[in-house]
Amino acid sequence: MTPAIGIHDLAVATSRHMLTHAVLADRLGTDPAKYQRGLGQDAMSIPGDDEDVVTMAAAAAAPIVERHGASRIRNVFFATETGVDESKCAGLYLHSLIGLPSQARVVEFKQACYGGTAALQLACAAVARDPSRQALVIAADIARYDLDSAAEPTQGAGAVAMLVSADPAVAVIDPVSGLFSSDIMDFWRPTYRSTAVVDGRYSVSAYLDAIEHAFDDFRRLGGADLREFERFCYHQPFTKMAFKAHRHLLEHAGLPVTDEAVDAALADTTDYNRAIGNSYTASVYMALASVLDSTSDLTGRRIALASYGSGCVAEFLSLTAVDGYREQLRSEANRAAIGNRNPLSYSEYRSLHTDRTTAHDGSRASTGDSGGMYRLSGFEEHKRIYHARQPAFSAKVGH
Ligand code: COA
Repeated sequence: MTPAIGIHDLAVATSRHMLTHAVLADRLGTDPAKYQRGLGQDAMSIPGDDEDVVTMAAAAAAPIVERHGASRIRNVFFATETGVDESKCAGLYLHSLIGLPSQARVVEFKQACYGGTAALQLACAAVARDPSRQALVIAADIARYDLDSAAEPTQGAGAVAMLVSADPAVAVIDPVSGLFSSDIMDFWRPTYRSTAVVDGRYSVSAYLDAIEHAFDDFRRLGGADLREFERFCYHQPFTKMAFKAHRHLLEHAGLPVTDEAVDAALADTTDYNRAIGNSYTASVYMALASVLDSTSDLTGRRIALASYGSGCVAEFLSLTAVDGYREQLRSEANRAAIGNRNPLSYSEYRSLHTDRTTAHDGSRASTGDSGGMYRLSGFEEHKRIYHARQPAFSAKVGH
């Protein structure tokens, strides 16, 4: 019989800088309540010139490797829509930075904000095939939109690293999940652009529609009733979206839609994303980390995870928090990663928003030092040069 498979450990990282929505609202002459109440955002993470998805991923994954060792990791699945190279996967840059094993399959996954869920599911499948092995899944992204666009207040950046194993110490991922895919143009980023193109209002309705269909598929395959879930972690391009989505699902299921019911279902799931902003494929796992790190004891409780990636693919999953999960958490470190960011002035933010592709000759040094454990120090002959402030952990025997 296949053992229970799921998340054995998870850790969060974000950029070292942030912009508050109060500063943004002031400079754009917008009512701050539009951002804080209308979108449900207080701040957004902004990467420094020496930060990218690799540095954030390394900051999230390194403590996991330090705790468990890397010797049982057979697969490294890196999900991002902010890849650093059109050919080489971002996960390979992590290899030397955090000491991953040579006998590993390292691959990148992309499907907008859904990629992390594809990586997680394929990691579960790989562990089912050989339960003595583990998989490292990383979801990391930088959400960037054009300055002065409607989407500008929904930027952000972050990474979530998860160790997937048999008999997991944090949460079991139930085998039944619901899927929905459709070829639409609600949000995309052509390879020649550094900011996304988005039809914002359409993306909101496409998201609701896709989650509804994924949930229907989940139910058709024998998945639990909405009432059997204690919490709902939604993809949060802005946290208000989770509230819209839950109201929509309750209505669709013919259940009473009250503020109390929605607030209870989403309690503690939006705290991290309110402060980080959109982290694309990491966002739904930020919601999961946020609720697991909260004071609520969810032992033995079902948690729904609703993943959406524009374009579009959606998946509705069910997780169960296992006995003793709270002892595994990294709540203090996760909160510190968010709480210790450097607040930017509006002009500092604008200068970091510039297109950060390398110079034509392929060489330049990064501007400034954000102070993170891992840095992109620059480019030499088109090669990205990373530095770690601490040496990679030597591979320990995992447990
Ligand atoms: N006080 C309180 N709330 C206010 C307000 C104020 N002064 N002014 C506006 N609001 C509310 C609006 O009523 C609206 O709430 P509602 O959606 O519950 O009705 C919310 O703030 C947003 O206002 P809206 O006018 O719709 O914002 P917008 O047109 O500037 O853009 C998005 C909103 C989401 C379309 C835009 O941010 C975007 O394109 N984001 C990127 C795409 C995205 O994140 N898509 C999500 C699915 S993937």
